Amino acid sequence: MQTAWDAIWINGTVATCEQGYGLLQPAALAIQDQRIAWVGEMKALPDKPEVLAKQVHDVAGRCITPGLIDCHTHIVYASHRAHEFERRLQGVSYEEIARQGGGIQSTVRATRQASEEELFQQSRKRVQQLMQSGVTTLEIKSGYGLDWPTELKMLRVAKRIEASLPVTIYKTFLGAHTLPPEYANQPDEYVDLVCDEMIPLVAKEHLAEAVDVFCEKIAFNVQQTEKIFKAAKKYGLAIKCHAEQLSDSGSTALSANYHALSVDHLEYLSLAGVEAMAQAGTVAVLLPGAFYYLRESKLPPIDLLRRYRVPMAIASDCNPGTSPILSLLLVLNMACTLFRLTPEEAIAGVTCQAAKALGWQATSGTLTQAKIADFVVWNVAHPVELVYYMGASPVHQWVKRGNIIQNN
Ligand code: NIG
Ligand code: FE
Repeated sequence: MQTAWDAIWINGTVATCEQGYGLLQPAALAIQDQRIAWVGEMKALPDKPEVLAKQVHDVAGRCITPGLIDCHTHIVYASHRAHEFERRLQGVSYEEIARQGGGIQSTVRATRQASEEELFQQSRKRVQQLMQSGVTTLEIKSGYGLDWPTELKMLRVAKRIEASLPVTIYKTFLGAHTLPPEYANQPDEYVDLVCDEMIPLVAKEHLAEAVDVFCEKIAFNVQQTEKIFKAAKKYGLAIKCHAEQLSDSGSTALSANYHALSVDHLEYLSLAGVEAMAQAGTVAVLLPGAFYYLRESKLPPIDLLRRYRVPMAIASDCNPGTSPILSLLLVLNMACTLFRLTPEEAIAGVTCQAAKALGWQATSGTLTQAKIADFVVWNVAHPVELVYYMGASPVHQWVKRGNIIQNN
């Protein structure tokens, strides 16, 4: 017999998320050196649990899923935009507020003003809340600096949050989030700054894994987006795009041609865009929180995405303007009620498909032997219950790299 595993969880309802829920029941999951060493039905265990592992956790039928992955957030920012929310409720549109210098620009002002320590403290608290909903990995974008010192400050804060909490963070440079006030009438000059100065520095200092662009009438056009993609490629960074959120610009097809890992939002996505994504294997990241918050009525073309087998991930888009959401479980529910995803698709969207959206599918996103042992034991018997409740806190054990971090 092999040397004993570090620990084993027994009598669980294991949702491997390899294909659909991938349910195994009653099942066990063993870990060794921070990785998953074994997963399968109890009856297939080669010996008694206490012989096989140094520690045995009997979870009494509870559901175990991979740690949830929030693959699209803007969670590092200063202040908030509750007053803008109030104005929008009175009927002023998001685009109108942006044109009046509010929206993203108001968070840019606050984020530039905040000290790194303030930004760190405010943002870290939000990440902790997101973790309470079962998140063990998240993506964080910059993009509220739009000048190098503040973009750098945001990426450094993201790195510090990762160092200070048991969470894995994928960092994305979103220097092309919107035009900074200094370049109000010179978009091409700002794009040159992003391409010729900021992206090379991001790559050189290993500050981020990917580059993202907001391609939209209130942000950057397709030509500018392509220029930024070229720079990202040149410096070996992955590509992501905020595309077709408020209008159809055709940036999805462009992103797919550049082998973007994901294209996100997609309410106005066309058939041509879906075809291009299917061909390139680009993940569609759907953000029902922003849809809900902006009270949009145009749904992303879910049926087309299904028909073309485009992988669909779900994320919080946590940001102060369009999605101040700090629970990925709530987003699961919205994905089903608002976008009509099946609960099985929604769960896949925050596990295996979200891992793909980050290019981390080889190590994360499913409960598969040899993958990193990030998982959650839930106080529910079946994964559909995670989608069904709203505002619940069903985490029983939160496990990061095989270590039980939180036990409720
Ligand atoms: O994902 N689309 C662009 N960016 C964010 C909104 C950021 C903000 O309003 O602060 C989004 O919706
Ligand atoms: Fe976003």
